[in-house]
Amino acid sequence: MTDREMSHDDDTPERTTIPGTELGGMFPRAFQKEYVTITRGEGHYVWDADGNRYLDAIAGNQNVNIGHGRSEVAAAAREQLERLEYTSSMLFANEPAMAYTETIAEFTPAEFETAWLVSSGSEANESAVKMARQYHYERGNTEKYKVIAREPSYHGNTGIAMALSGFPARKTKMQPLFDDWPKISAGTPYRCAHCDGDGGRACGIRCADELEAAILEEGPDTVAAFIAEPVTGAANAAAAPHDGYFERIREICDEYDVLFIVDEVMAGFGRTGENFAIEHWDVTPDIITSAKGMSGGYSPIGGTMPHRRIAEVFEDVEDGFQHGHTYCFNPASAAIGTAVLQYMSDNDLVANARDVGGYLRERCEEFYEYDFVGDVRGKGLMLGVEFVGDRETKEPLASTGSEFQSLLFEAGLDAGVLTYPSGGHVAGDRGDHTLITPPLTIDRDAADEIVERMHTTFQQVESEI
Ligand SMILES: Cc1ncc(COP(=O)(O)O)c(C=O)c1O
Repeated sequence: MTDREMSHDDDTPERTTIPGTELGGMFPRAFQKEYVTITRGEGHYVWDADGNRYLDAIAGNQNVNIGHGRSEVAAAAREQLERLEYTSSMLFANEPAMAYTETIAEFTPAEFETAWLVSSGSEANESAVKMARQYHYERGNTEKYKVIAREPSYHGNTGIAMALSGFPARKTKMQPLFDDWPKISAGTPYRCAHCDGDGGRACGIRCADELEAAILEEGPDTVAAFIAEPVTGAANAAAAPHDGYFERIREICDEYDVLFIVDEVMAGFGRTGENFAIEHWDVTPDIITSAKGMSGGYSPIGGTMPHRRIAEVFEDVEDGFQHGHTYCFNPASAAIGTAVLQYMSDNDLVANARDVGGYLRERCEEFYEYDFVGDVRGKGLMLGVEFVGDRETKEPLASTGSEFQSLLFEAGLDAGVLTYPSGGHVAGDRGDHTLITPPLTIDRDAADEIVERMHTTFQQVESEI
């Protein structure tokens, strides 16, 4: 294969695309779309079928945290697949899963000693909700089942996870399939419901107090849990709440016997420069969910990690946790997860995410030179840029939605960088943003390259909107 190395000042390269109608036997994500085929990955680059190289500034789908093509992980997978590819966790124990969950327990905060392993972030959140529900049930609080969430938010595409998600663009066409569980506002400064973004800690407390109002409205005896992404992903491009928010959330949850679930599907396992994003605040949740970075993209893995005081309630339950899937605690996935965590620790990737992320965050301030950039934000290597039509009023772009997002993605491909356009966080169907979430392995030179290629991308977008 010839690798046609692209730099930001290349002309628009040739790119073969395949219509959604011609993807072999695939029922495609969108029949109407044209797809570039990715054939190879190495470190923080991927190559398409024409040999064009792209800087993977979104780590696949915010999951390829250790970079592409790591032979150590391939070797661990091969060894385990040859020894034992599968055994049922309902009937048997398996060594890779025991070892992996012990390693996870060393990585999670103190007193998080066990992990329930599944195959995706959606399943991790479904498991957390069912764990919270059964926790209350076993303690005699049989009426507690509701889970309060935030808007905007994304917790996954399965039934309960959709009910939790405050992301109308991803659920409107499916209604009335999902219960629309109660939502409070996300408490993030840029589009705060209570201040202009400068309300600080006092506004953090005010935003969190919405949870107390929602619990009282629903009836405290019916509310089992509250779920939040400490740093929001696709629903709001790396937005985090005001200081003081999560501390007050913890107090309210304690007062009403409501479990605090943090969805760290994207933010967990080092992405924000702490092992878990909630560790940016002095707050201990009751359940942590995670997925993407756990496997680095090398296998479908998700996990639900309860605090010891939650797990203990299940110790006396004769018929166990009323939940489970065929692929829970899959031995091959567990061996891969262990190899990924080993790679992270050998290369000190959480510290690298903090260090290079801080540097990249500073350089991203340069993007304010484009009038359509309204906000640059994020922690570690979970960064986001929000686009607006008017920076003063924060009015979304006139071309908001798929039109703008396709333009941005294509301009990124032309510039040799992968972007992750999304939106719909303003009034349910307007507003646009992109995540910048490269592998945690990047150094400052790669961060500079991301910024330069994003400049090229934004210049092209600016000339076309
Ligand atoms: C915060 C968050 N929660 C849950 C999910 C769902 O995870 P999955 O796509 O693995 O089911 C995602 C996926 O993007 C996510 O970012």
